[in-house]
Formats: sequence, structure tokens, C-alpha cells
Amino acid sequence: MNFIIKEITKETKDSIKNIFIEQWGSPQMVSRGKCYDLIELPGFQALHNERIIGMITFKMKQNEIEIISLDSIVENHGVGIRLLNEVINIAGKENIDRVCLVTSNDNTKAMRFFQKRGFKMKALHLNAVHDARKLKPDIPQTGYDGIPIEHEIEFEYILGKSENPQEVIKTINLEKWGIMESS
Ligand SMILES: CC(C)(COP(=O)(O)OP(=O)(O)OC[C@H]1O[C@@H](n2cnc3c(N)ncnc32)[C@H](O)[C@@H]1OP(=O)(O)O)[C@@H](O)C(=O)NCCC(=O)NCCS
Repeated sequence: MNFIIKEITKETKDSIKNIFIEQWGSPQMVSRGKCYDLIELPGFQALHNERIIGMITFKMKQNEIEIISLDSIVENHGVGIRLLNEVINIAGKENIDRVCLVTSNDNTKAMRFFQKRGFKMKALHLNAVHDARKLKPDIPQTGYDGIPIEHEIEFEYILGKSENPQEVIKTINLEKWGIMESS
């Protein structure tokens, strides 16, 4: 499938907001005790024939980039890898050596996805989702495969000091699926 990656723009924010509502119930996302409005965050979108088929949002901090959301509408076609790679490239260019994110304990698919992309499990935040519900009460009680949603698992990707974005691209192995490096 051919698709291109572009930065999220003002023009596509409304469509993206609707996708966030479909995927997560609202454009708000709680991560590590903070509530983010996803459409206010920087990010990238994947477009196939001008249709949005994926997006990633992130928060740039002093020494790290936290991925706040990653959504693929057309799975297993390289959309997630390409979007993730864009953020890791930014970290490389900005000399930020840590990219992190949390997933909830039910999201085994995401755990598999990130670990296969070189992310390491960093911490288990027990019962963090119970606290997150105080900020976002509509977080469902059960998630994938009927698993109760209770905890946050933190993952991190550490860019080696000598690594440059080109080497990161190799790590993520875009070539395997004939996925192009840039849009
Ligand atoms: C996790 C998630 C983002 C992955 O996105 P995705 O677009 O399916 O990811 P990709 O297509 O890039 O990679 C998935 C698999 O497809 C493979 N793949 C990529 N292109 C392919 C192609 N053209 N043909 C066949 N397989 C392909 C990848 O190698 C990968 O397999 P592997 O992990 O066994 O190596 C997606 O499942 C999702 O949106 N989940 C719901 C939201 C979520 O949980 N987000 C993460 C929480 S922050």
C-alpha cells in the first residue's frame, strides 16, 4: 500500500479529532498522570489517497520525547513503523536520547510492536489507570481480549550517543517491507 507521511496540520485536525474519538472515546489521553489534548500536540499523519490511515502525537520535553498516541487505521502495512520512525528521527536530530511511552496492561499487541522495534520495558506503574480515570472517567474498565485495564507499562528507546537518524532507520528495518525512508 502506498502512503505518505506529513506533519499534522490545522486543516486535518478536525478529521484527526474524529478518529481519536472513534479510537479512544475522546481526543483526551492520560499518560503518566497527565491529561493531554491530542489535537493540540505535534505529530505526523499517514495519508493514502488523501485519506488519513494513521497518526502519531508526541510531547517534546527537555531530555526526552514522550509518544502520547500512535494509531494505525490500516494495520500491518508499515504505517505504525513509519510514524514511529518519524519521531525517533526527530529525537536524533534534536540530540534527545530517550523516546518513551506508556501502554495499558491489556495492550499486548502494542507491547509486542514496540519491543520488536527496539523499545525496552522500563517500569510498571501499578494501578496508574485507576488514577487516570479520575482525569478521564470514560476510560473503559476492560480492554483488549476482555482484560481489565489497570496498569501502565512504560517503554523507552535509548538512542546511543553515536547513533544518528540514519542508523536508527536501519535499527527499525524499514527496508524489510520496502517501506521508503521519507515521504
Ligand atoms: C500498535 C499499532 C500502532 C501497530 O501499527 P501497524 O500499522 O499495524 O504497524 P506496522 O504495520 O508498521 O507493523 C506491524 C507488523 O506488520 C509488518 N508489516 C509492515 N509492513 C508490512 C507489509 N507490507 N506486509 C506485511 N507485513 C507488514 C511489520 O513488520 C510488523 O510485524 P512484526 O511486528 O511482526 O515485525 C497498531 O496495532 C494500533 O494502532 N493499535 C491500536 C492503538 C494502539 O494500541 N497504539 C499504541 C499505544 S501507544
